Amino acid sequence: MSPGKTSILVTGGAGYIGSHTVLALKRVGYDVVILDNLVYGHRDLVEKVLQVELVVGDTGDRPLLDNLFKTHNIAAVMHFSAYAYVGESVTDPAKYYRNNVLGTLTLLEAMLAASIDKFVFSSTCATYGVPKIIPITEDHPQDPINPYGASKLMVERILSDFSVAYGFKSVRFRYFNAAGADPNGQLGEDHNPETHLIPLVLFTALGKRESISIFGTDYPTSDGTCIRDYIHVSDLADAHILGLEYLLKGGDSEVFNLGNGNGFSVKEVIETASVVTGRDIKILECDRRPGDPPVLIGSSDKARKILGWHPQYSSLKEIVAHSWQWHQHRHQ
Ligand code: UFG
Repeated sequence: MSPGKTSILVTGGAGYIGSHTVLALKRVGYDVVILDNLVYGHRDLVEKVLQVELVVGDTGDRPLLDNLFKTHNIAAVMHFSAYAYVGESVTDPAKYYRNNVLGTLTLLEAMLAASIDKFVFSSTCATYGVPKIIPITEDHPQDPINPYGASKLMVERILSDFSVAYGFKSVRFRYFNAAGADPNGQLGEDHNPETHLIPLVLFTALGKRESISIFGTDYPTSDGTCIRDYIHVSDLADAHILGLEYLLKGGDSEVFNLGNGNGFSVKEVIETASVVTGRDIKILECDRRPGDPPVLIGSSDKARKILGWHPQYSSLKEIVAHSWQWHQHRHQ
């Protein structure tokens, strides 16, 4: 579909997955406006790499949204902005429900008022809770075990109710473990604080950390460590373009898992990082981290069939290599 003269609003476009999607949107030829409060997003990446309009503000700021929709011709909204630290969501759930649920509801109401009815939403495999069956398909029961997952599930419910009541069309993507970085080295993962496995392993290789802690070596898996489905962030970005175009072509509301369908253990990730970086990575075997399911692997057959999504970077080595390229550049 031709992008035309309209723009796509990307909330959280200065963050990890949002920024990679903005880059992909630009490559395809869309005009993009970013809304980001810059609490976790990076102004320098928007200005130096993405070079699109940045509106600094919250999704919960209704007057700001009304003005934004009045002054821009927005065809659809891609909503990435959210707080996403699982541990923090347990100790400060109010922060998560206010931002992730109320902020999103305010955004959706502003869209309804402005007659914009296409929405691509970042949901998560954390909405499933502890899986009963592997690989997880979209019809697996959703029973989140932390407020972060619950906040995303609440928005999913709002979206399905809006679809029935108002004809508001949405694509909900449930991501597995987003990882990697732009293959051209322009963008990558830069969380502060960083809690994710791959960046922390690479910080250890860079000498920014003394060792990497393995949270649990007694899980019922082949090597005793947790298994996750790592999906390249540029493949996630491509899926978002397909989801957007599906809606722009008149597609009905849908939900899709986005994962690789392959699982890798914590030990396999560390071994792969040793090979990719050529450096020794010191390991510290620790207790389990509360709330970690032993295995999370998703089936993305539905996204492949309906959207025609084909992940390009399914090898863990490639995912880690792109991440390594980024971190060396970002922290030099
Ligand atoms: N891990 C370690 N050591 C570390 C960091 C992580 O052993 O220093 C382990 C974790 O215990 C887990 C695996 O590495 O088994 C992956 O951990 P991450 O923190 O990288 O990712 P999670 O699987 O915990 O979290 C991801 C997303 C969340 C989402 C969740 C769904 O980052 O946003 O998947 O379960 F909610």
